[in-house]
Amino acid sequence: MTMAYYTLGRSGLRVSRLALGTMTFGTDWGWGADKETARRLFDRYVEEGGNFFDTADAYTNGVSETWLGEFIAERGLRDKAVIATKFTFNAEPGNPNAGGNGRKNMLRAIERSLKRLNTDYIDLYILHAWDRVTPAEEVIRTFDDLVRSGKVRHVGLSDVPAWYVSRLQTIAELRGYEPISALQLEYSLAERNIENEFVSLGTEHGMGVMVWSPLASGLLSGKYRATQNGAAGAGRLETLKGSTNPGFQKFTPRNFAIVAELEAAAKEIGRSMAQVALNWIANRPGVAATIVGATKLAQLEDNLQALDFTLPAELAARLDRASAPERPFPYTFFGAEIQGMIHGGATVGAKPSSYQPRIETFGAGAGVTA
Ligand SMILES: NC(=O)c1ccc[n+]([C@@H]2O[C@H](COP(=O)([O-])OP(=O)(O)OC[C@H]3O[C@@H](n4cnc5c(N)ncnc54)[C@H](OP(=O)(O)O)[C@@H]3O)[C@@H](O)[C@H]2O)c1
Repeated sequence: MTMAYYTLGRSGLRVSRLALGTMTFGTDWGWGADKETARRLFDRYVEEGGNFFDTADAYTNGVSETWLGEFIAERGLRDKAVIATKFTFNAEPGNPNAGGNGRKNMLRAIERSLKRLNTDYIDLYILHAWDRVTPAEEVIRTFDDLVRSGKVRHVGLSDVPAWYVSRLQTIAELRGYEPISALQLEYSLAERNIENEFVSLGTEHGMGVMVWSPLASGLLSGKYRATQNGAAGAGRLETLKGSTNPGFQKFTPRNFAIVAELEAAAKEIGRSMAQVALNWIANRPGVAATIVGATKLAQLEDNLQALDFTLPAELAARLDRASAPERPFPYTFFGAEIQGMIHGGATVGAKPSSYQPRIETFGAGAGVTA
């Protein structure tokens, strides 16, 4: 395939539409890849033209960042590579300032990430998760300081409430700080709740969505089957069956109904279920990049072909219906029924994507619509 690139959010940073997730680099967590496999995954992705790598200081206790830095250095790819890494999680029990999103931890964490990644700058520095206590002003100001110091090029947020994103972005705009360019969030056929707030937030305010767990931790590849006692299949979700982490609770009747519809759709067009699931999510509004993850080369080979075809509109619509998320209050007020009561029955909706504001230009062609 030929890898296409999008600019991330409203920034000028060119990133490939499929990013490589490196949370599986390292066996420390019991479900990742060993070093040789990780190197092969890295090489194969680069061979396909991929330039966007996602890691975090917390992944596999630092192994992910260390190996990624090594692989990039081995191949002399630092200029070409776009490295995204994250801070927030604490690796030092008993020291609350070794985690969270306060300035002290941000400045501590970046130094360690730079060291492990063997680089002097991060292309996209991401707050990993909301810590509920750090003021938005402190985070956005520290992000801006990091950009001005040259240690960071662009900044992003992951796993945060929409109101917090909105506050950070507004402060950045008003104070002339580096704006947020990316929102990294869980998004897949099995988890579509970000559609309630984040997709329009990102689209309207210059932040590209970076999709994590696009296959719902492997569920959407179709390798797990519902059984009388839950589900069976080999992979991360089987290993983490007893985990209390909400991200890994995927064996639900609703999800298996989505898997069944996906299986039928994949069969109809002769593509793997993983490819159809990735294609569907990568083409959703607001998505800048989809982070693919793998523990085996064959999985990555499969996933890298996910954007080589166009999903027929009728199939995409079927998957949309089968996976439609619940719309809790107040989102019920934004549907056709109540909006009709607001707009006097007239249709006043979002502008179509072809809509362009009229731009006045000088010289030849003055006054034409650009
Ligand atoms: N910001 C955050 O909070 C956050 C959270 C999670 C992830 N992330 C990022 O997003 C990346 C991707 O997340 P993810 O790993 O959860 O993505 P995912 O695509 O939902 O799951 C990937 C896993 O599914 C299985 N798999 C992948 N392709 C397959 C295929 N074609 N056939 C069969 N099985 C397949 C593999 O696991 P098994 O071999 O074990 O089955 C693989 O490791 C991570 O590496 C990380 O960079 C970010």
